[in-house]
Amino acid sequence: MRIVLSDTYRDMSRKAAYIVASQIILNPRSVLGFATGETPLGLYRMLISMYWAGDLDFSGITTFNLDEYYGLSEESPYSYRFYMKKNLFQHINIREDQWHIPRGTAENVEEECRRYDRAIEKAGGIDLQILGLGVDGHIGFNEPDEKFEGGTHLVELQESTLKANARFFPSPEEVPRFALSMGIKTIMKAKKILLLASGASKADVIYEALQGEVIPELPASILQLHPDVTCILDGGAASRLEKERDERFS
Ligand code: F6R
Repeated sequence: MRIVLSDTYRDMSRKAAYIVASQIILNPRSVLGFATGETPLGLYRMLISMYWAGDLDFSGITTFNLDEYYGLSEESPYSYRFYMKKNLFQHINIREDQWHIPRGTAENVEEECRRYDRAIEKAGGIDLQILGLGVDGHIGFNEPDEKFEGGTHLVELQESTLKANARFFPSPEEVPRFALSMGIKTIMKAKKILLLASGASKADVIYEALQGEVIPELPASILQLHPDVTCILDGGAASRLEKERDERFS
């Protein structure tokens, strides 16, 4: 695992954008895995700027998002489909048939999960997966569990996740309690992973995930076993790693 330290959120986002851009330049038909939440917003803004500067062409890529809230319609401003359109897709040259997000309103959830896994497989798997990190150690919406989940599945969100995500909704009661999420096995099958974490609220979980035991109770810890992970941290998220390192010197 490569750990890249950045002083600021902006610098973290810029470094991440260069990595995503180089992936697209080296393979214009790349399959990218995208995340939502607050962390990748700066990265998406940088990618849009690169597109408008004429430096990046998205016309050949395919994308798969990690997750979607269960029960939110596609038009809901709180759905991840809406988020992706608003924060990235509507600003770049990507057609609707190039990007994929699990359908949160599918009548048959099990079937939707299998359909999503098949679509990822048919595309040849994910070349570069972008990940954020939940304060409870989740990646995608794979919450702490007794085992690592394989494929796309329905998840019951933990209280800490509901609380953390309430900031995106008009009131905490409106945060859906369930979501569809890509499984850990699919994430681990991505050829490369780019993990981003920003802010002091992520300092402990980053430390545990990168330096602690690999356990399903801390889903992100599995990334220690992936052969090609780049983790970009800003000063806040790196603070405990740096403190533990500095304490080893007299
Ligand atoms: C979102 C996702 C989640 C977020 C995580 C961190 O698609 O998969 O794992 O990455 O909840 O969210 P933020 O970035 O808002 O702190």
